[in-house]
Amino acid sequence: MSPPTSASSWSCETHSVDETRQLGAHLGEALEPSSVIALSGNLGAGKTHLTQGIAEGLGIERRLVNSPTFALVQEYAGRLPVFHFDTYRLRNVDEFLDLGFDEYLSLRGVCIIEWAERVAEVLPADTLTVRVSATGESTRLFEWQAGGEVSLRILQTLRNRSR
Ligand SMILES: Nc1ncnc2c1ncn2[C@@H]1O[C@H](COP(=O)(O)OP(=O)(O)OP(=O)(O)O)[C@@H](O)[C@H]1O
Ligand SMILES: [Mg+2]
Repeated sequence: MSPPTSASSWSCETHSVDETRQLGAHLGEALEPSSVIALSGNLGAGKTHLTQGIAEGLGIERRLVNSPTFALVQEYAGRLPVFHFDTYRLRNVDEFLDLGFDEYLSLRGVCIIEWAERVAEVLPADTLTVRVSATGESTRLFEWQAGGEVSLRILQTLRNRSR
């Protein structure tokens, strides 16, 4: 039986960088082994700031986290290992797979992918997707969608913590 739409999707808004980091931290605390977080949204939407919060929630110093523009994938060690991908500079899905995405996935850590819409076809069904959009100078909308059992549980925990 598929879950009702109301449980698999949720949206929330933040009003400052600090609030976005707090939202990310709540998510980081809720993550489980093999979590996949797919981030989409324009340049400057807030994907990296959310990722810094996620890192903090996993016990990783946020200053270590930047857009992995040149390395394409960064690894951080926290409560769970984190693999942070930025696909902005990749030309196609094969280049993403060549980075070793499937191998990273098998390490049962947390995979966070910026510009995930570019590689959506090779992400697992059980991915927590979030679309970030600017709704004002300092406000950002986060639209969440869970695609399976693990991401649904994480989203539920995030909603409870963010109340
Ligand atoms: N509520 C907010 N949450 C997050 N960032 C905000 C917010 N309000 C304003 N900002 C600004 O928006 C920008 C977000 O930058 P960030 O690097 O996180 O975006 P990004 O989506 O990762 O972009 P890119 O695709 O270029 O890597 C920053 O300049 C930040 O100061
Ligand atoms: Mg970024």
